[in-house]
Amino acid sequence: MNYRTCLIAGCFLCIGIARNLNGIATAGSSFRKSRQLSCVFETSKIIPLSKEIETIRLNVRLLLSGTESKEAQRSHSENLQENIPSFFVEESSVDILQHANEDINALNCRISTYFTANTQIIWPGKEIRASSLDSWFICTIKHTAEKFATTAFLVQTRQENENHNQGQLSQGIAEQSHVSAVFLVHTRPLVVKSALSKDVLFDCAFSIDHQADVTIQWLFRRKGGHKKLIFTYSGSSKQVEHTTDRAEMFLEEISKGNASLLLRNVGMRDEGTYSCSVSVSSLTGEQTIQLQIEEKPTVIVNVDSLSLVEGEQHKLVCDIRNYYPLDAQAQWLRELKGSRKVPDVVKNVLSSSHRQSSNGTYSFSRYFLLTASLEDNGHTYTCRVDHQSLQSPIRRSVIVKVREGTSIIWLLLLLLGLTVCLTVMLCYLHKVRSTAKPKPY
Ligand SMILES: *[C@@H]1O[C@H](CO)[C@@H](O)[C@H](O)[C@H]1NC(C)=O
Ligand SMILES: *[C@@H]1O[C@H](CO)[C@@H](O)[C@H](O)[C@H]1NC(C)=O
Repeated sequence: MNYRTCLIAGCFLCIGIARNLNGIATAGSSFRKSRQLSCVFETSKIIPLSKEIETIRLNVRLLLSGTESKEAQRSHSENLQENIPSFFVEESSVDILQHANEDINALNCRISTYFTANTQIIWPGKEIRASSLDSWFICTIKHTAEKFATTAFLVQTRQENENHNQGQLSQGIAEQSHVSAVFLVHTRPLVVKSALSKDVLFDCAFSIDHQADVTIQWLFRRKGGHKKLIFTYSGSSKQVEHTTDRAEMFLEEISKGNASLLLRNVGMRDEGTYSCSVSVSSLTGEQTIQLQIEEKPTVIVNVDSLSLVEGEQHKLVCDIRNYYPLDAQAQWLRELKGSRKVPDVVKNVLSSSHRQSSNGTYSFSRYFLLTASLEDNGHTYTCRVDHQSLQSPIRRSVIVKVREGTSIIWLLLLLLGLTVCLTVMLCYLHKVRSTAKPKPY
C-alpha cells in the first residue's frame, strides 16, 4: 500500500469514527433542535452563626417547552431519574431561542437567583404573592467563542413546590421549576475589532413580554479606568443625552428592541468595555462588548535585490510601520529558491526601539549587516512579520547575487602583464621606426 491509499483509508476511518460518536452523543446538536441545555445553577446562602456567605453550584437543566422531540422527552425522564433539577421555560413572547440558537456544546449557561433585596418586582401580568420574593431567576447564555451573550430574567409561574424552597434545591433534590422569560438583553459579538478612524456598531437587542418604557444606558470603561456614561435614552421622556458627539443610537429602532450604539471615527482612546444596560420597571439587564483597535503593519525592506562581490558588506533593513497593538514579531530568514529546506533564521539581527506616532500606531525596524559570501549567491533574504491583525504573515524578500572577488594578487599580475605588453610594443615600434628610416645616402 502506498502512502496515498493509506491516507484515504485513514480518512474513511476518521469519518466512520466521527459518525459513530455522533450517533451516541447529541454532540453537534443545536439548541433549537435539542430544546435543552446543561446549566450551572448558582445560589448563595448565609451560613448560620458564622454569617459567612456560601456559594452553592449545581448542575441543572434548562428545558424549553413546545414541540418536544422523542429524544428530548427521553432525556427529560432521564434527568428526573438522575435527580438533576430542571427549569422548564414556558413559551412566552420573549424567545430565548431566537437569541441563543447555536450548537449546545458551544453554549455556556448560568442560572442564579435574582436577589431583589426584599423589594417586590412589579411586573404586569405577574400577580404578587408573599412567596414571590425568591421566584426570580437570571439566566445568562454565552457563546464560548464570544459570538453572543443573552441574559434573560425568568419568573416562576407555578407555585407547585410551595413547601419546597431553594434550600432543598441546593441539596440536590430533583425539582422542577416552571418559569417564563419576561425580559432579555442580548449583545453580539462580544469582541469588536476595528481599524483606526472607522465607525463601529455595538449591537445590543432587548425583548420584553409587554409594551413598556425602557431606559437604555451605554457605559464605557477603559482598561483600569472608571465607568463613564456615554449615552442615555429615557423612554418615558424620549430624551437622549450623550457625552460625545461621535456616539448615536437608532431612536426609531428602539421600539423594535434595538438598543445598538454607533460610535464614529474610533481611536485608541475608545478601546475598552462597553456596557449596554436596559432598565424596565425595577429590572436592569446588562451586557458588555469589548472594543479592540487593530492596525495592520506596512512592511518595507530597503532594497529589492542585491548584487555584491564576495566579501562586500550591505545593511539589510526591514521597516515595520504603523501597526497596533504593540506586539509584532519580525524575523529575517535566509532561503534558497525552490528548496524544500526549512529556511535558516538569520542570527545577529538587531532591533530599533519602538516609535509611536501621534495616532497611536507603532513602528520599529529589524536590521543586520550582510557580509557577502559565495554560498549566499542565489539565496533570498526574507523579512517575515507576524501580528494579530494579519491572517498570514507579511513577507518581503531580497534576492542576493554574489560574484567572485578579484583579489589583489590577480590585480598585480594583471598590471605586470600589461606592463610587459606595453614594453614589448614600445620596443617593437622603436625597431620598426629605425628600420623604416630612409638611409642617408
Ligand atoms: C439596529 O439597527 C441598526 C441600524 O438599522 C442595524 O444596523 C442593527 O443591526 C440593528 N441591531 C439589532 C440588534 O437589531
Ligand atoms: C498613523 O500615522 C502615521 C504617521 O503619521 C501614518 O503614516 C499612518 O497612515 C496613520 N495611520 C492611520 C490609520 O491613520
